[in-house]
Amino acid sequence: MRAIILKEIGGPENLILADVPVPIILDNEVLVQVKAISINPVDAFVRRTKEALDWVYSYKGTEEHIILGWDVAGVVTETGKAVTKFKKDDEVFGNFKFVGQANAYAEYVAAPETELVLKPANVSFEAAAGATMAAMTAWMSLVNVGKIKKGDKVIIHGASGGVGHYAVQFAKHFGAYVIGIASETNRDFVLGLGADEFIDYKTQFFEELVNDADLVHDTVWSDDDKHIERSLKALKPGGTLLSLIVYPDQEFIGKAKAEKNVSVLRVNVSPSATYEQDMEYIARLLSSGEVKTHISHIFPLEEMHKAHAIIQTKNTVGKIIVTP
Ligand SMILES: NC(=O)c1ccc[n+]([C@@H]2O[C@H](COP(=O)([O-])OP(=O)(O)OC[C@H]3O[C@@H](n4cnc5c(N)ncnc54)[C@H](OP(=O)(O)O)[C@@H]3O)[C@@H](O)[C@H]2O)c1
Repeated sequence: MRAIILKEIGGPENLILADVPVPIILDNEVLVQVKAISINPVDAFVRRTKEALDWVYSYKGTEEHIILGWDVAGVVTETGKAVTKFKKDDEVFGNFKFVGQANAYAEYVAAPETELVLKPANVSFEAAAGATMAAMTAWMSLVNVGKIKKGDKVIIHGASGGVGHYAVQFAKHFGAYVIGIASETNRDFVLGLGADEFIDYKTQFFEELVNDADLVHDTVWSDDDKHIERSLKALKPGGTLLSLIVYPDQEFIGKAKAEKNVSVLRVNVSPSATYEQDMEYIARLLSSGEVKTHISHIFPLEEMHKAHAIIQTKNTVGKIIVTP
């Protein structure tokens, strides 16, 4: 089968097309013919960072090649002996084996049945593939960790990106008042997703404009605590800071609690007990049209390097999809 292998750690040009064996499924897995793959910032991070790649590959199976990727939508072509949830020809999507070796940049993948859900018939493979890691991250942050509820005032940083554009839509679904933060060029896009207000991070200081948020979903990279400190200021006493990039230390967490009664919680997308139920909820939102995947680029498999060149700019609008 065709797959994209990583020749060596480095730039997007190291992602090259190769012919590799079709994976052999375990008893609890299904073989999926991949119709669409979603690209995330972590893909580029692992591609260029030895420590990250070593970590992913500490879960390595017997594969000969390094194949990146964790997010797919496709069609089940074979089922393992112990599989009960799916049958041949089912259309499925999911984020699987994260942060191990999932080998998603390929024409076929072997995925555990528990990490896939049925794709609604009226949702395209591309839109479903997009709503995997990015959508789960937004969901875990706002719903599972942030316990979002009707009437909450919520700040979504990176509202134009993969995670953020789902976060805005989920927050609106749960009846929140949403302030989306991104670049001015993406103002109409973010407001079009349903955000009630827009802040341009390049020309405005959000913490000077908002001081009564219930939740801040913070996905902005900074070498220190500077950005999450600013996010703290935008919260009301009793609010919750959801930190998706920075790992706040105990001193920061304790101080936020003592001085402002703010809870600081780290969010990591990871396999959870509610994964299937959450993904099924997301599938229903996609099917009803209440939540949409915005796709800014679709590339054929052999142009994976182009997808990586864009995702690593940190200015992706919505999702980038690759089709085998
Ligand atoms: N903790 C976890 O489990 C987890 C899971 C998934 C992703 N993440 C991380 O979450 C972040 C967002 O992921 P994504 O997939 O949404 O990425 P993305 O699609 O690349 O989106 C990036 C977003 O960040 C905004 N942005 C870029 N530079 C910024 C800056 N200097 N200040 C403020 N905003 C800035 C962009 O806005 P404009 O383009 O409008 O400027 C865009 O909305 C990434 O760093 C990713 O690694 C964490």
